[in-house]
Order: sequence, then structure tokens, then C-alpha cells
Amino acid sequence: MRMYDIIEKKKRGYALTREEIRYAIEGYTNGNVPDYQMSALLMAIYFSKMNSEETYELTMAMMESGDLLDLSAIDGIKVDKHSTGGVGDKTTLIIGPIVAALGVPVAKMSGRGLGHTGGTIDKLESIAGFNTSVELNTFMKQVNDIKIAVAGQTAKLAPADKKIYALRDVTATVDNISLIASSIMSKKLASGADAIVLDVKCGKGAFMKDKESACELARTMVDIGKSAGKKMKAIVTDMNEPLGRWIGNSVEVYEAVKALGNIGERKLMEVCNVLASHMLIAAGIARQYDDAIIMVNDAIESGRALDKLAQLVEAQGGDGNNVRKPELLPRGRIIRKVKATRKGCIISLDAELVGKACMSLGGGRETKDGEIDLSVGIYLDKKTGETVEKDEAIATIYGSDEDKVNVAYSVLERAYTIEDNVDLYNNSNENMIIKIID
Ligand code: URA
Repeated sequence: MRMYDIIEKKKRGYALTREEIRYAIEGYTNGNVPDYQMSALLMAIYFSKMNSEETYELTMAMMESGDLLDLSAIDGIKVDKHSTGGVGDKTTLIIGPIVAALGVPVAKMSGRGLGHTGGTIDKLESIAGFNTSVELNTFMKQVNDIKIAVAGQTAKLAPADKKIYALRDVTATVDNISLIASSIMSKKLASGADAIVLDVKCGKGAFMKDKESACELARTMVDIGKSAGKKMKAIVTDMNEPLGRWIGNSVEVYEAVKALGNIGERKLMEVCNVLASHMLIAAGIARQYDDAIIMVNDAIESGRALDKLAQLVEAQGGDGNNVRKPELLPRGRIIRKVKATRKGCIISLDAELVGKACMSLGGGRETKDGEIDLSVGIYLDKKTGETVEKDEAIATIYGSDEDKVNVAYSVLERAYTIEDNVDLYNNSNENMIIKIID
């Protein structure tokens, strides 16, 4: 078999066989296939697309390129949750403690932020002492003891995806449904859960900008998971404006703590409640949605979910006082209010630009090894559908460098569109749940 022939075949629009896909993935992982040939194959896949069998085989080949976690030492049905990436997405920090408090074992491998989207591991590391590099046996023991552990993905999990993702990033081949689905699902399947609930983001701040492509991505991932024998559900949710009011790292832990204390923004809680409820159903803890949602609300209102977050923080070496008194979490000391340039209604708030404003403060990374400032962040005083007076604060910046604050200020000004006419506000994103696919 020759890589040249595989590239040629895909370029001409033919479906690749299992053996051809494995030859390319194994060869690239072990260094026998060079970057330039893999780049050419990725671009051929981008234009010629892959059918569902090819996408499944690609996922399996990438999954098997590294370790497969065996979570069988953890009691109960393990349910994983994954979000396709967005701005202000602190759902894992809220949902994990809720479902763990209700008895679902949460063995969560999470990622770091890249580009304008944030990552759970960075957010947790803003809590002093919190250790995200937990050895597997300790990780599993912690899940058995307190029902929840959150650790960074090891380099040994789907290494083919790591290498290919880095190449896609620099060859303009990220936004292809087969490539995204196989990338995400290879890691999820290697992580060893019995059931997976996916949060597929749709809108300006997401990879998938429209409902049709987000639903297609969700359907593709659900089908891959089912073919691999997993219980699957995907919830397509709105990501036109950021989720919640706070964007950054420590400030998103702050917002998650407030949400678990029953002071969460409506749209953020709508997404969390639906995802948590479907996790309870997948774990066999609730029979139907109406029962699940009652359990979720009770876990929050009783304070059990917040206690569970404190327990998680302490089990992984962090200071639990950060949960009891979230004001202790680090926060950028240069505070600047972004003022409305006119009176009117906020008709749109571009999630991607808000993410970029946070990056320009130093709160996100340009490259996968970049350093970030975990204390900086943005509070969105105003979101879509709300009215403002001229010079009223629409956002508040918490930075640690004057020049960076100035850049973030101008990016945030561009993120807001304010019009006189309230009717221009398209309120379709008032409902955060776009579609449920199983
Ligand atoms: N997240 C991933 O892990 N892979 C992609 O391709 C896109 C988002």
C-alpha cells in the first residue's frame, strides 16, 4: 500500500477502505507518513468528504492509536459529557457536581482552552493547589470514594488525534464534519465511559455556525458512539452569545459556584439542567426527564451540589474555601467599564469576539503550549435583548496589563451591536435548546 495512492483515491472522490484508513493513521502516528502527505489527505477529505463507514473507521483508528482507559474498577454506569467548544462554557463545573451529588460516577478527562474557546482544566487550575495531573488508579479511587474526579487528558489518549489536530489547525482543515466528529469521538471512546452526552454548540462562537451543520455533526457523533456500543445522546445548544455572564478562567469558577448556590443565569442553567437530566437518565438514576429535572433542582437547592464541588476541590489538593467564599478566587486588578456608545437595545453579542477579547487580556492561548493568565476576565453587564442608556456599562474588564485592557476594550465594543429598534432583536436564541438527537 502507498500513501500516494490513498491520497489520489480520496482526491477523486472514492471511499477509502478500513485498511487504507488504518495505513494512513498508523503511518502518520509512528512517523512513517510525513506531514505533507497527511496534509494532502486531510484536504482531499475536506473536499471529497467521507461517508459514515469511513468516518467510523477513522474514529476507531485514531482511538486505537493510544491507550484505552479501563474504568471497570469504578462502580456504576459511567456517563461522560462533552461540549464541542464555546465561549463562557463552564457547564462541566456545574453539571459534574450536580450529577455526582445524585450518585452518577463522573470520571472526567477534560482539555485546555485553545483560541477563543476556554477549557475546564485551565479553569480548575485557577483554584490554588488544584491538581489536574492525577494518576489513573488515584483518579478511579477518587470516583469510587466521592463520585467525581476531573483530570487533564494524557498524551497517551488518542495520540493520532493530537498530531492530526495540530496539522488541521495550520492547514485550514478543521471545519469538516467527519474530521471534527472522529477527533472528538476517538478521545471520548478511549476515555472508557459507558454512555456519552454531547453538547453540540451552534452559532457565532462555535465551529458549527448554523443549525443544519450542528445537527449533522451531532447525528454523526451519535451514530459513531452507538456503532461502538455506547449509549448516546446529543443536545444542540445555542452559542451565538457567550454562555453566562463571566468569561475567563477563575471568574468562570466564580460563576459556577454562584450557579450551584442557586444564583445562575437563566440561559446558563437551562443548558446545565437539560444536560444534567440526560446524564441522570443515561446512568439509570432517573427514568424520565420530568423526574430528572426535579432531582437536578433538588441537588442545587439543598446545597448538595455545591458541597460536592468543595469535596472535589479538596480531594484534588485545592483550597475548598474558594468554593465557600468565591470572592477569594483570583481576579484581575485593573478594572475598566466598557461604555455603550449609544442608547438602544443589544441586538447581538458576538461570542467569538468576546472570546477574542478575553484572549487579548491574556486569558486564552494562541498555541497549544502558550501560557495564560488565569486571573483575567470579562463580566457581561448586558446581553442580547437588554436595553442600555448611552455611557452605561455594557461589560466590565478585569485585566492585569493596561495595554492589553485597551485592546480588549476595543474588541468588546465591536462585539456588541446596539440598535434603536428593539424589533431588530431576533429572539430565537432565547430558547437555548435547539434540538435533541439520539
Ligand atoms: N474539538 C476537538 O477535539 N476536535 C475537533 O476537531 C474540534 C473540536
